[in-house]
Amino acid sequence: MSFIQIENVFFSYDSEDEGQPVRNAVDGVTLSIEKGEFVTVIGHNGCGKSTLAKHLNAMLLPDSGKVYVDGDDTSDEEKTWDIREKVGLVLQNPDNQLVASIVEEDVAFGPENLGIAPAEIRERVDKALKAVGMYEYRHHAPYKLSGGQKQRIAIAGILAIQPQCIVLDEPTAMLDPNGREEVMSTLLRLNREMGITVVLITHYMDEAVPADRVVVMDSGKVLTQGTPEEVFSQVELLKKHRLDVPQAAELAFRLKGRGLDIPAIPLSVEECAKMLGEVLQ
Ligand SMILES: Nc1ncnc2c1ncn2[C@@H]1O[C@H](COP(=O)(O)OP(=O)(O)OP(=O)(O)O)[C@@H](O)[C@H]1O
Ligand SMILES: [Mg+2]
Repeated sequence: MSFIQIENVFFSYDSEDEGQPVRNAVDGVTLSIEKGEFVTVIGHNGCGKSTLAKHLNAMLLPDSGKVYVDGDDTSDEEKTWDIREKVGLVLQNPDNQLVASIVEEDVAFGPENLGIAPAEIRERVDKALKAVGMYEYRHHAPYKLSGGQKQRIAIAGILAIQPQCIVLDEPTAMLDPNGREEVMSTLLRLNREMGITVVLITHYMDEAVPADRVVVMDSGKVLTQGTPEEVFSQVELLKKHRLDVPQAAELAFRLKGRGLDIPAIPLSVEECAKMLGEVLQ
């Protein structure tokens, strides 16, 4: 069994008795997430990404279908807290997630609620702050930090709970390019060095490029999924569903349309430069 297993999940916010046809925000999704994977989920506004994310730690329960986290059914109320310790959720706006007036108190909030002993909390907080590169800021006031720094504190707050998986719902949407870069490199480090499973919802295609797997959602369904190379080489399919592709892929796709012989679609600027160098020779 996969670490997270989503089996034919349907979910609707509508109630059936309002005379309106029910529209499913999640419309029959089957998806699994393996331990240690870095998965990104993309899709245009309203396609059900956030709704799906909330199913991963029992914030929402399926109308029908099942979600299993580490073998536990999210509908089993006795397992809710176990599941939320295993899968942490980070949201878009860091201001709504920071609760204390000092950084280290904020990060301690989660483990305190779990009733962890103070000495261990101290250890966890230091470790989490170091993991996101914010240890020097432990005595600072969160409101004085930059957006990227605040979001890293929010991530540290989740890390202090020692989850196996972090789900992030557009964590970089409110950040400038520097903040986005800080958060992305933090997530990649947590995944590669600490083995934490990462599910990243993003509308920045470039953030999907370093992932192990990209899942594309459309109208509550999984439209396609695969490695970034597999997904972003389907430029026409993505465009048809009003989705962008990374700029490097877009350029290559247009050059191909002009008759240039492009063997493989590049995803990063580096790959694109290499491809152009070869093509122009
Ligand atoms: N609390 C809610 N009550 C009623 N309908 C909702 C609620 N939240 C979302 N929806 C609807 O459910 C559908 C899926 O929304 P969801 O927020 O999951 O999409 P999303 O892919 O995260 O969108 P975005 O990219 O804008 O964040 C949309 O049609 C949305 O209008
Ligand atoms: Mg959303």
